[in-house]
Amino acid sequence: MSFLSEYQGFLGAAYLWVKAAHVTFVIFWIAGLFIVPRYYIHHQATTPGSAEDRAWIEREDKARTIILTPAMLIVWVLGLMLAVHLNVFGQLWFTAKLLLVVILTGYQGWIGAYGKKLAGGHRELEDKKLRLMNELPGILTAFIVVFVIVKPF
Ligand code: HEM
Repeated sequence: MSFLSEYQGFLGAAYLWVKAAHVTFVIFWIAGLFIVPRYYIHHQATTPGSAEDRAWIEREDKARTIILTPAMLIVWVLGLMLAVHLNVFGQLWFTAKLLLVVILTGYQGWIGAYGKKLAGGHRELEDKKLRLMNELPGILTAFIVVFVIVKPF
């Protein structure tokens, strides 16, 4: 795609601004996906019902409602606007990216569900398993960025 034709979709000259906003909110979203499961590792070392336990519940709740949920929604809206603008539906790199983003969104669902369990006093996973889960967003992010920038297929 030539430089000029990138301005010909419905976003026109706003295309690069939308892309800049998309990447900014991607950073906020991924930061949230990194930090909240880290919180969980500290949280589950506390005694259910203790003051420390309640402080972690509040901290996690704020991170989810102020960072994770809004950032995820904004990334999706701006990303889909870019996709319509560039008409990339059906291109392999985009399908692959979308698949991984869907998994990342599912991971956020797991974060919400695990947070509810912790708040209810249940410590379901061992720290080691939680640390392994924590690796997932980093790995997915690396692949997503390669798909969207290198466009290997
Ligand atoms: C939520 C669904 C998402 C959709 C529908 C979407 C879609 C798009 C589209 C169509 C572009 C423009 C590509 C281009 O200009 O060639 C783009 C750019 C970009 N996206 Fe996403 N994206 C999403 C989520 C993400 C996520 C989760 C990440 C990172 C983990 C990400 C990272 C990027 C980057 C780095 C760019 C800039 C690429 C460039 O300048 O060439 N996106 N996205």
